[in-house]
Parts: sequence; C-alpha cells; structure tokens
Amino acid sequence: MRAGIRHVVLTLGVIPMAVALAACGSGGGDPDGQSAPRIGLLLPDATTARWEAQDRPLLEKKIRQLCADCVVEHANAKNDVAIQQEQMDSMITKGVDAIVLVAVDARSLANEVRDAAQADIPVIAYDRLAEGPISGFVSFDGQEVGRLQGRALLRAMRDDSAGKRQIVMMNGDPSDPNAAQFKKGALSVLAGRVKIGKAYDTLQWRPETANMNMSGALSALGVANIHGVYAANDGLAAGSISALKANKVDPLPPVTGQDAELGAVQRIVGGEQYMTVYKPFGPEASAGATMAVTAAHGAALDRVAKDTVRPTGGKQVPAVMLTPVSVTVGNIKDTLVKDGVYTVGQICVPRLASACSKAGLT
Ligand code: GAL
Repeated sequence: MRAGIRHVVLTLGVIPMAVALAACGSGGGDPDGQSAPRIGLLLPDATTARWEAQDRPLLEKKIRQLCADCVVEHANAKNDVAIQQEQMDSMITKGVDAIVLVAVDARSLANEVRDAAQADIPVIAYDRLAEGPISGFVSFDGQEVGRLQGRALLRAMRDDSAGKRQIVMMNGDPSDPNAAQFKKGALSVLAGRVKIGKAYDTLQWRPETANMNMSGALSALGVANIHGVYAANDGLAAGSISALKANKVDPLPPVTGQDAELGAVQRIVGGEQYMTVYKPFGPEASAGATMAVTAAHGAALDRVAKDTVRPTGGKQVPAVMLTPVSVTVGNIKDTLVKDGVYTVGQICVPRLASACSKAGLT
C-alpha cells in the first residue's frame, strides 16, 4: 500500500518542470499571444460525489497554479449523453484551447472527440478512457481496483461457511469503460472461490438502482444466503446496504466500494461497509491539470506522461496511470486523513464517537 503511494509520487515527480517548460513555450494554443488560454472541463454527473466535490476544485486549483491566466470553463452533463454532446459542441464553437473530458458514455462521445481533433483542440480523457482521437489520458489501473475489491471481500468472508459462500455483484455502468475493468479485475480474484448468486450492471451508477437490485437479490436468494456484496463504488454500496438494512439482515455481510466518499468512510468506521478503494484525487487532478495546461499551450504531452494507451478509434497517446489504494477501518488515518482528504473531525461525527475511538481515529 505504502509502495503504491510512493509510486504515485515518483510518477508525478517529473511533471512540474516539464510543465514549466511548456508554459514558457511557444504558446501554440494561442497564436496571437493575446488571449488567456481557456480550458473546458466536462464532468459527467452529480450522482457520484467525487466529480464536483474532489476532482473539480482540485483540477481548477492546479490549473491556476500552473497557469495563472488560464480560464476554466466547467459544465456538468448530469448523466445525459445529449447534454454532454452539446457541451462538447459548445466548447468547440467557442474555440477553447484544451478540453478535459470525463465521458458519460465513451462511445457516444466519439464523434465530438473527432470534431475537437479536427478543430485542433486537444482532448484529455480524465479518469474514463474516451473513444476517438484523444491527446492524453489520466487514470488509475482499473483492473487493480477490481482486484483490491475482490481480495478484500475474500479476506472479510474468510470465517464464513467455507465453500458455500455466496455473493451478489453490483457492477457499474457498461457505457463507462472503467466499469468493465473493475468487473474483470474482481472476477479474476473471485471466480471459482465464491458462488456469484446474482450479478447486475447498474445504468448511470445509480444507488437507487442498486437498492432495488439488492432487494430483488434478497428475495431470490434469501436473507441468510448472501455472504458478501461486491459493490463497484460507494454509491452502489450505499444503495445495497440500505436494502440489506431494510430487510433486517443482521449482521450485515461485508460490502466493498470505491471512491472514498465521506459517507462510505463513515460507514466503514461504523461497521456497515467493509472497504472502499481510494484513488488519490490530488495526483490524478494534478496530472490532468498538467496535461490540460501543457496541451493548451500547444506542447507535446509525452514530456509530462510516462505511460501510453491506445483508445478505440484513436492512435496511441501519452497517459499517466496511477495506483489505487485499498482502505479498511485500520488504515483510514494513514491514507485519507494523512493525505488531507478528510479531517478526523469530518469523519467522526457525534454518533460515531465510540466507533472512532475504537478505530484509533482521534
Ligand atoms: C468511474 C470512476 C469511479 C466512479 C464511477 C462512478 O468511471 O472511475 O471512480 O466514480 O465512475 O461515477
């Protein structure tokens, strides 16, 4: 785990100087040297907290640090593909200098990515790989996210009725390429070791859909026969846990998650959720901002990214791939609190006071 964090720091260590060079460079995105560079930031939804609560403020801050006169134009597609297509069109019409895109649906946005490339506007795919001729990509190893979730679930179920352990899988939205990676990684660990009683894909990552699906799984399998829940992210974990509680499942089976949402961290402290996957927001936003500013100045991205990726319908491009971290009650302090994502005060609301002191969160 520690090594993972160190890896992230090392990976990004090369970036600041390269950007400083890029920022002093030709100013390729601004040929007249007059107007301030403009960067479009297109986020997918407000269903998952991270985009507006973590990624947006961190990206904006880092872009400002790297490029004091850069202007960020932000828009959120509210999970609607047509709205995001319009937002892309509008950024292209305005002639922004670079676009940071978290695609609602990778395939449906490919035409707009192509239009941007034709207009010489570099698109940086942020967190989710977009289809088409993007210029760069920053994300985490998605299969490793799934493996961390799968391993944690097996560990948590160890004392259960060996051999007869049955789980329910709450997977993400199939139009998000990450969802397939998470599922693949998780199955590589879980297949053959547990029985998968029910598995669901969750359109738009909606917690209320996971809630409905978990109620269905409970009636189909029986409340006593679910020994673990693979939830691909914290929203799906929340929806699943509320269905388990509504059906009086006690004790709750271990439930996985992802995104280190504050509510999930509190459920972990309170014993309702077993784990979450923390994908350090700071390094991801920092790499995304660095790529965006570099691209907006017309400089090459291979100077600021050491990995590569080949998107569907595009050629190989520079990428920064970061390492995810598994978080259970025992390492909240060494990860999320240490990195300044949350203070102990934010996590330890009065109702969690005794759970927090038991967890050493003081
Ligand atoms: C994924 C992302 C996750 C999670 C999910 C739901 O693409 O990697 O961190 O937020 O989308 O929006």
